[in-house]
Amino acid sequence: MNDMNIVIIGSGMYVCGRGTEGYGTVVPALLQWAKNNTLGQVYVAARSAKGIKMAKAKIKRLSRDMGINTDFTYLCGKKSGKSAYVKALREVPRPACAIVAVPDNLHTEIAGAAVRAGLHTLVVKPLAPTVKEAKALTALQKKHGVYCAVEFHKRLDLANHALRDAIRKRAIGSPLYFAVEYSQRKNIPYRHFKAWVENTNIFQYLGVHYADIVYFSTGATPLRAMAIGQKGWLVSKGINTYDSIEGVIEWKMPSGKKFVSHILTNWVDPESSSAMSDQKIKVIGTEGRFESDQKKRGITIVTDKNGTEEPNPYFCSAYGEKGEVSYIGYGIDSINTFLSDAALIEEGKLNIKYLEKERPTFRQAIVSTAVVEAVNESLRRNSMWVAIRGI
Ligand SMILES: NC(=O)c1ccc[n+]([C@@H]2O[C@H](COP(=O)([O-])OP(=O)(O)OC[C@H]3O[C@@H](n4cnc5c(N)ncnc54)[C@H](O)[C@@H]3O)[C@@H](O)[C@H]2O)c1
Repeated sequence: MNDMNIVIIGSGMYVCGRGTEGYGTVVPALLQWAKNNTLGQVYVAARSAKGIKMAKAKIKRLSRDMGINTDFTYLCGKKSGKSAYVKALREVPRPACAIVAVPDNLHTEIAGAAVRAGLHTLVVKPLAPTVKEAKALTALQKKHGVYCAVEFHKRLDLANHALRDAIRKRAIGSPLYFAVEYSQRKNIPYRHFKAWVENTNIFQYLGVHYADIVYFSTGATPLRAMAIGQKGWLVSKGINTYDSIEGVIEWKMPSGKKFVSHILTNWVDPESSSAMSDQKIKVIGTEGRFESDQKKRGITIVTDKNGTEEPNPYFCSAYGEKGEVSYIGYGIDSINTFLSDAALIEEGKLNIKYLEKERPTFRQAIVSTAVVEAVNESLRRNSMWVAIRGI
């Protein structure tokens, strides 16, 4: 396979585990990719010298643990950080791709710059907060003829494949309603995302994943949405955002049948919660039900040091001794599928049009973006129903 040069924009929690004991998901995926493929040049563009210093130290340790030699180029910008990613996009040798992992409100600007520079581009979710932006990005992708996707890793969780199959094969009849509960610990908004938490909200951050899974598993179109939110703990800590948001979305199947999804989200779970993500999905159909507990994956570890933990071994886990650690999981697969797709496109072995049906492309992400935008609009308008049109 062609050596793929890569620009990573952002050096935060998801890229390399900023503020955590771990290494995030993006860099572990890249190093895992390097075990079986030749990695081209990798540029890491971040906003501050501090961010670069932390990323360098994390990547050095992780490379050693994984037994990979890395020689990344690190660029940091002045003030806004714009100069760093602009330079990286200009200088990276072609063929190249970009992985954009910056706060939500910057996705359109920065992913747009990557696409304009002619790079295949992967953006962490949500693609953007508004349909107007998601459509503009999709138009840009078409104009520049590059492959663009959103890093919706839950699509690669086999539990969600089983859900999709149950619906597609009509094992549970026609869906009547989905019930989703998804939450994370308080530290996420309070500590990790403090700098930009008021530019997003918990539905936009977590709910969007399951808006995409509902679409992925049913192929349905969202018709309207309403939402209600509660403020409490975070406001008491001086952070003006909702603790929890519940969204109700009505959808229409390709068959014309309608169903509803209830997506309940919060990010004020106790730090002592036994898993980072508490997540469950249920679908009730006319001929049965499908239930998936996506928190309790069957492992419980109890130690003096950490109390009770119920880790998800299927997302992004490190296995093996120091010096030969491997990262495995659907988070890793999601990023590596993008790298492999981009490399095959460059070799002329894969058609971008084919991926439109198979992957969470920018065009497909217009659907989850529309749900997020309608939920946000409903929150602003005292929980009124908001129609979703023209997607
Ligand atoms: N943390 C997760 O588990 C996770 C999972 C999936 C998706 N995401 C998404 O990833 C995005 C970032 O999340 P995070 O967890 O890494 O947050 P974070 O706050 O830890 O990191 C954000 C990073 O963006 C950088 N940044 C901001 N402006 C920049 C610029 N102009 N140029 C380069 N870098 C810039 C910041 O310096 C920081 O390194 C969000 O959209 C979030 O929804 C996060």
